[in-house]
Amino acid sequence: MRITIVGLGTVGLANLAVLAADGAHEMVGYDKDAGRLAALMSGSYHFDEPAIKDIFASHKPLLTADEGLALRESEAFFIAVGTPSLADGRSDLTAFEEALAAIARHASKDAFVVIRSTVPVGTAERAISFLRGASERHFSVISMPEFLAEGSSWSDENMPARLVVGGSEEGIAFIRMLYGRQIAAGTPLIGMSNSSAELAKYAANAFLAMKISYINELARFAERKGADIEDVALALGADPRIGPAMLRPGIGFGGSCLPKDLASFLSQARDAREPLLLPQAAQRINKEQPRFFLRKMENSLGGLANRRIAVLGLAYKGGIDDIRDSLSLGFASSLLRRKAEAVCYDPSPLARADFRKALPKAIIADTLNECLAGADAAVILTDDHAFANLSEEKLVSLMKGRWLFDSRNLFPKGSFVRIAYVPLGRAPSGKP
Ligand code: UDX
Repeated sequence: MRITIVGLGTVGLANLAVLAADGAHEMVGYDKDAGRLAALMSGSYHFDEPAIKDIFASHKPLLTADEGLALRESEAFFIAVGTPSLADGRSDLTAFEEALAAIARHASKDAFVVIRSTVPVGTAERAISFLRGASERHFSVISMPEFLAEGSSWSDENMPARLVVGGSEEGIAFIRMLYGRQIAAGTPLIGMSNSSAELAKYAANAFLAMKISYINELARFAERKGADIEDVALALGADPRIGPAMLRPGIGFGGSCLPKDLASFLSQARDAREPLLLPQAAQRINKEQPRFFLRKMENSLGGLANRRIAVLGLAYKGGIDDIRDSLSLGFASSLLRRKAEAVCYDPSPLARADFRKALPKAIIADTLNECLAGADAAVILTDDHAFANLSEEKLVSLMKGRWLFDSRNLFPKGSFVRIAYVPLGRAPSGKP
């Protein structure tokens, strides 16, 4: 079977790699972005996952920006284009609608259209009507949301915790055939209607967002009451009904998915006049959380003006290169607005380069030592391994001041004596 993946971002590339790895189908990758395609074809593309890179090298799927060549002969299309946020939180479906129109224009056979992009509930139904009016072909439209996290997109897609599949019986049977390897290995396939599958995606991301916001809210309460949020998180996570994931406090959730999907979900709720109070609260807490941590720094340091602050962690989480919707951007901007000197560092050269473009007023250090040198205080914003290994000796020898603010609680109690260590939701230690 000839299968085309439309849109080669994180989701499309992982999808293409997983199906190509089976070696059972003729795989085609299509993207309008000629620069991205050229990089993919020349082997210079920056894959953040070696497994995906290896599969592209060994299985060599056809990659093309030629719409007709990509779409004409295929019997299945996977749409994995972006659906970014508009100013009011709604999803921008321009790329998605363009993909559908292109499929209708070029498809020469009856086909399956599998929606991997995150789209508002009801979009598949509209896609079905559109395709019916725009083409003579028969299309079976399947909603199959992805649940992959950046940094583990290969394993999340190759062996997902579950396959959520919305569509007709014919459509669900097609996915059952295509993902036979995963199903045989124990991945459950949960079949449902298109709109239920679309809602399941938003419901899952909103739930993860609520878990993070809940632990962040609790961290503030724990701090006020002299409790330790890390002990509280352990106690919560040990309950199998709750589970330990997404209970790490910090300055909030960023990234290209959780904030965007939450905003879209809330806009859909507004439009449907069915307010979603819990997800709404999660969004509010997430906006407040960086301010809370910044106030902590401000109060401890007696103001931020003219202070040199080493900002550690620019990507939206540790171990990745991506700064999209990273809360570090807003945090560093707030420092600058308070007339502090923000010297920013991330172990990822790509994250540093993108941060420099996004926030030209910040100083970007090329090494951790350069970032810490002469700083009045350092603040850890992501859970990157590079920061968890910081030693007291290094901090004392490089920094001018003696303050380490750690929004990710990377260090066990009692790790610092000669500097003031200020974690989140637990007691500070040491002295400046
Ligand atoms: C997320 C979901 O995990 C994934 O299922 C969905 O498909 C897309 O969105 P991703 O954005 O890649 O994936 O990263 P994730 O690891 O979930 O982290 C998102 C944000 O939440 C990051 O800013 C991270 O630092 C923060 N986070 C995560 C916390 O603050 N605490 C946690 O316990 C977990």
